[in-house]
Amino acid sequence: MTRDGVFEAPGRINLIGEHTDYNDGFVLPIALPHVVRVTAARRDDGVLRLSSRQASGVTEIRVVDLVPGAVTGWAAYVAGVVWALREEGHPIGGFGLLVDGQVPLGAGLSSSAALESATALAVTELSGVSLERRALARIAQRAENEFVGMPCGIMDQSASLLARERHALLLDTRSMETEHIPFDLAPVGLTLLVVDTKAPHRLVDGEYAARRRDCHRAAELLGVPALRDLDGAEQDLPDRLRRRVRHVVTENERVARVADLLRADRVREIGPLLTESHVSLRDDYEVTVPELDVAVEALLGAGALGARMTGGGFGGCVIALVEETAVEVCTEAVEVAFAGSGFAKPECWTAVAAAGARRADHVSAV
Ligand code: GLA
Repeated sequence: MTRDGVFEAPGRINLIGEHTDYNDGFVLPIALPHVVRVTAARRDDGVLRLSSRQASGVTEIRVVDLVPGAVTGWAAYVAGVVWALREEGHPIGGFGLLVDGQVPLGAGLSSSAALESATALAVTELSGVSLERRALARIAQRAENEFVGMPCGIMDQSASLLARERHALLLDTRSMETEHIPFDLAPVGLTLLVVDTKAPHRLVDGEYAARRRDCHRAAELLGVPALRDLDGAEQDLPDRLRRRVRHVVTENERVARVADLLRADRVREIGPLLTESHVSLRDDYEVTVPELDVAVEALLGAGALGARMTGGGFGGCVIALVEETAVEVCTEAVEVAFAGSGFAKPECWTAVAAAGARRADHVSAV
């Protein structure tokens, strides 16, 4: 066992299955080539020393003093993982951890889950604690839920830890069963265009928690453990809850249909399902903002096969399935539409499905 090492974990884009993970449903993300890199070294003095290439200052705290609230800002995602591991009885001691994050911040690409995942992998591996990747994902989620205070589901951490190159990760968030489905667009002349709308994330934490509460309440009223357990999309509920439920039920169905199409090598046909997902998130789940809606409309107008917001909503990114030859036209259409609406200039790039978290230094064989 070595005392130090470099670990990397990627951000993610969700192809489909939005706001289903905290309803025990299905998600279908890919990992991005963008990673958070953590350089870690064990210390014998029980102190956690955290620094980042993207921020000034150093956080130092003894691991025995870790409690929710004791560390704030970006360092809380790192300290929270050490805290969660120790809470579950794993012998994690002091560490020096230097973070270098290449996942764009605040764009809804899960830079925080990438940071948690890289940390979890680093401190367990260097402490000789052997945990399955799924268990690490749960630890990372617990850190975010209880130490940072964000009630997220398990999708982002799972994507970061479990995804494979050129594959999408179909995840049943109830059983944590996974299937790696080939997702390689280049051979068929297609690409996944990402539009970072640069829209300021408005109300995101409060609204996210409010959606979770709506779903929980609806499940309670309908007498099911989770919305995943419902048969039909139309339920007898007050209007707002009825629409929340309709989104979750139909979104789970869309995930299954997209997975089927991908397995059958019929990727072109997933376009309309992506667009339907966006409409459902806009009208029933109400987590879009004008920037997201304008981007989707512009992309479809320019010939995209399908487009939708990805991530939690209230800002962040839109993805579109486009012909490789249409990337320029689609990018231009979004830029023109944004300028016309008085929005900030969006950033467009194409994404491929990359590998999940890994050790990135060269470990000698002995
Ligand atoms: C955020 C959360 C995830 C998931 C998505 C919405 O990214 O961290 O757990 O709920 O929103 O699908």
